[in-house]
Amino acid sequence: MNRYSKVIGTGGYLPETIRTNEDISRHVDTSDSWIYERTGIKSRRIAGADETASSMAEIAAIQAIEMAGIEAGEIDLIIVATGTPDRVYPSTACLLQERLGIQNCVSFDIQAACSGAIFALSIADKFIKTGAADKVLVVGSEICSRLVDWTDRGTCILFGDGAGAVLLDSADEVGILSTHIHSDGEFEDLLYCPNPQAATEANKDEAGFINMRGNEVFKIAVNTLGRIVDETLAANDMEKTDIDWLVPHQANTRIIAATARKLRMSMEHVILTLENQGNTSSASVLLAFNEGVRDGRIQRGQVVLLEAFGAGFTWGSALIKY
Ligand code: COA
Repeated sequence: MNRYSKVIGTGGYLPETIRTNEDISRHVDTSDSWIYERTGIKSRRIAGADETASSMAEIAAIQAIEMAGIEAGEIDLIIVATGTPDRVYPSTACLLQERLGIQNCVSFDIQAACSGAIFALSIADKFIKTGAADKVLVVGSEICSRLVDWTDRGTCILFGDGAGAVLLDSADEVGILSTHIHSDGEFEDLLYCPNPQAATEANKDEAGFINMRGNEVFKIAVNTLGRIVDETLAANDMEKTDIDWLVPHQANTRIIAATARKLRMSMEHVILTLENQGNTSSASVLLAFNEGVRDGRIQRGQVVLLEAFGAGFTWGSALIKY
């Protein structure tokens, strides 16, 4: 009998504080209209001073566990994707395990920047398919606002905070159809965030803020995401019309629209959360998926294409029969 990974729960958390484009334009030389036209973003959420990646992950995870109707103790594996871990170690996944009161499971973080959720789903699917785990909790949780230089108008307009979660279970009917993940370090300097504590003498003065050559990243993202669509459809012997929903990483509406055009899909079949969330890095795809599931747009049996692109570069997709 074949083993598949089936989605049994989703969750999401957004911090309370809203930072609008108008708020940002009071401190840097930009405007609401420039930001909205170039990115599709109007506002983003900012984590409170006492919030962390693990505290936000906990809220999203509990929602997913409740939707699934299981006990936290049944979870075999927790994978957290984050670029803003509470601590260098233990992993945020271990901290989440403790918060959920789970005594005995495997927990680890993965770092693939904005593609983190897709990488985590891909790993989770392999654990389930090989029989190494049954119930796997995948979380993306990010406090991007703490990595942003709020005086840099090229980056501070883009990012927001939040956490998304998906709970998978082994099943004998198909759930995740395929996952595809890629990395290429050649472009590491187009989008990066230094770690001042691990700096060499040569780069010890670099601050720990996101650095991005936005326009170059934009062009590569559009082309790369076009290729991942082709790869995913070919691997599943599917046509563009077989996809019911596109759940993209939320970086820029123009990038998302290009992927939708590639799929000949109307924007009505794209789950967009960008306008009021900005780019929440590894949380964004899971937050959007959760929103589509909870508001009833994504229905059982429908085919959903999740995709993301991020620093590294890293990119990937997960094709899911929900
Ligand atoms: N407000 C006003 N003007 C701004 C601005 C801002 N926030 N940011 C940049 N500009 C200016 C630039 O200085 C430049 O001015 P110039 O023509 O006088 O030199 C002009 O706007 C165009 O800059 P450019 O960087 O080419 O703009 P863009 O259309 O590429 O938009 C981004 C910038 C960042 C919105 C866009 O490149 C982007 O979204 N990139 C991809 C980001 C991404 O996906 N990152 C994460 C991947 S996970």
